[in-house]
Formats: sequence, structure tokens, C-alpha cells
Amino acid sequence: MITLGIETSCDETSCAILENGDKILSNIISSSLEKHQPFGGVVPEIASRHALENIQFVFDEALAQAGKRIDDIDLISVTRGPGLIGSLLVGISFAKALSFSKKIRFVGVNHLEAHLEANLIAVSTPPKSYIGLIVSGGHTLLVRFQNGKYEKLGGTIDDAVGEAYDKAAKLMGLGYPGGPILDQLASVGDYKRFKFTKPKIDGEFDFSFSGIKTAVLHLVRDLGQNLEKEIPNIAASFQHTVIGWLVDGVRRVYEKTEEEHVLIGGGVSANSLLRSRLKELGAEMGITVYIPPISLTVDNAAMIARLGYDKFKQGISSEFDMSASPNLKIGL
Ligand code: KG4
Ligand code: ZN
Repeated sequence: MITLGIETSCDETSCAILENGDKILSNIISSSLEKHQPFGGVVPEIASRHALENIQFVFDEALAQAGKRIDDIDLISVTRGPGLIGSLLVGISFAKALSFSKKIRFVGVNHLEAHLEANLIAVSTPPKSYIGLIVSGGHTLLVRFQNGKYEKLGGTIDDAVGEAYDKAAKLMGLGYPGGPILDQLASVGDYKRFKFTKPKIDGEFDFSFSGIKTAVLHLVRDLGQNLEKEIPNIAASFQHTVIGWLVDGVRRVYEKTEEEHVLIGGGVSANSLLRSRLKELGAEMGITVYIPPISLTVDNAAMIARLGYDKFKQGISSEFDMSASPNLKIGL
């Protein structure tokens, strides 16, 4: 069975061809990142225009690289939310037009669930239940998947973790997106140089990242002329702290639920420290931690195709009245 995945929820425009849910034949991603860089963040209007201008080309390229024709496609899976309304509508309209003209079934899927599903593409027996950690520029979520359902256990009460990385980097005059830049700088810094205190939060598994951003702001002001040489140390201390909170959250969920599988996903799952600390946690606790290959941490259509394939096998598909859900929650 050949599934076409379409992902246009934010600044990436992606189409993928997936064979039988486990073989990625192509996964083309066109990013509009460079166009947003001068603004220090994603500009929705620019993102949707980029999607509109590029989707046909990305689709053609995905088919060509997979060595397939339109008539080979058995199912279309498209992101229906959460995300930017304009960008989402480009992918959904494209999916519907293709579905209508070629009489191919389609299914709208949840982008957050797809980030976790990215881990299962080449897994022969996927876990039936797991702890999920979704970390990106827009989301920070701890969930439990059980009996085919997602339950939110915790999340950020303010900024997303990727957003905190981006803002901290901006305060230090570094580029956008800040995550990969700080991750790189952290490798040559001393993480013990600066201490950031953990904010008090009511929710057992909730996070807060706005306080540490303010702490970085104060540090930048206080350091003045000395900022330059301390940047790697701030990056390392910041990274050590926020990744520590995330890993601690996963550990506490494990201690409470004894769920033996952990899946992570989203842009921040490319973070080197998060990846190594979670591997260590897995070894220490004797649990299996699924970490996506770097190529599947960014927004991509292969994960969308995989989730749609799974849904379709469960008898789920969409009708033409399906539309974009910019604030779609996990499990819906
Ligand atoms: O999932 P994503 O591509 O887009 C959404 O926000 O949905 O995630 C992008 C986020 C950005 O905030 C970026 O700074 C962060 O992921 N990121 C990282 C790393 N690579 C990307 N954060 C920390 N360490 C990284 N290596
Ligand atoms: Zn994403």
C-alpha cells in the first residue's frame, strides 16, 4: 500500500511517499526558515505563501524520488492541526483536490501524534502503551498512550521549550532558530558556571520556561562587556537546566506509571543532551526509549503518512467537510 503524506502546519512544506507503513520511499521537505530569519521567528503569512508556492513542486519531487506515479497512491494523509491556519489550509486543499480528482481516500491527522509516530516507522512490533514527550517550538507535552488513547499528563504553562531556546539565543544576540545554535555552543561551555532556579509549578508534570528566559535576560544585562566570553557557559548552563527538567519529568512519569516505553518527538528531540540523557535514563531504568533519527525530528510528511496509514488500517478516514484545526489537542 502506498501512502502520500502531506505536511504544511508551520514553516515546512513536505510530501512523502511511504510503502506499507514502514518504508520511506521519499520524504521531501522545503523549509521557509531563511525567509523568517530576519524577523527572529515564523511569520504566518510568509509560511503560508511559501507552502502555496512550493507544494506542487514538493509533491512532484516526492513522487519522482519514490519512482511512483499519481495512480500508484492508495491513501493520502494530511496534517489537519495543530498549526497555522493558512499553512494548514494549503496542505488540506491540496489533499482534497487530489482525492477528488483521482478518487483516492484521504485522512486528516494530528501533527503532535505524528511526531511520536515518527519513531515507529521501522519498528516491527510497536509498543501498545508508552510515555510520550513532545518538544518543539510550539509545544511541550508529556502524554501517556494507552488502550489506543492519549492522555495529557503535563505541559508547559507558558513558553514551549524550543521557544525558550529561541528567545534565550535572541537575548544573547545569536541567530534564529536558537536551539541548534545553543546546543552547539553548550558543547564547549561549562554547565556549572551559572545556576538557574526551578520555578514552582502546581501541576505534577507541568513545565515553565519563561522564568529562565528572564534569568538569561538579567544575566546578559549584568555581564555587559563580559557577555561574549560567557556565551558558551550560559548556553551550557541553560541547556543543562532545561533538559534536566524534561528528563526529570519523564523519570517521574515512569516512576508513577511504570510504563516501559518512552517515545520522544518534535524539533527539540534533535537536542544532543536530551538524546544522550534519555538514553542513559533508559539504560538505568531498564526501559526502551525511542528517539527519532535527526531527519525525522523536524516537521516532515513521512511521519504524517505513517500516522494516516495506521488510522486507515483502524478504519478511520476523512470526508470533504474536514477542515483545519489550528488548536487541535492531542488525542482529538
Ligand atoms: O518541531 P519544530 O521543527 O517546529 C515547531 O515548532 O513545530 O521545532 C522547532 C524548534 C525550534 O524552537 C528550534 O530552536 C528547536 O526546535 N530545535 C532545537 C534543536 N534543534 C531544533 N532545540 C534544542 N536543541 C536542538 N538541537
Ligand atoms: Zn512539529
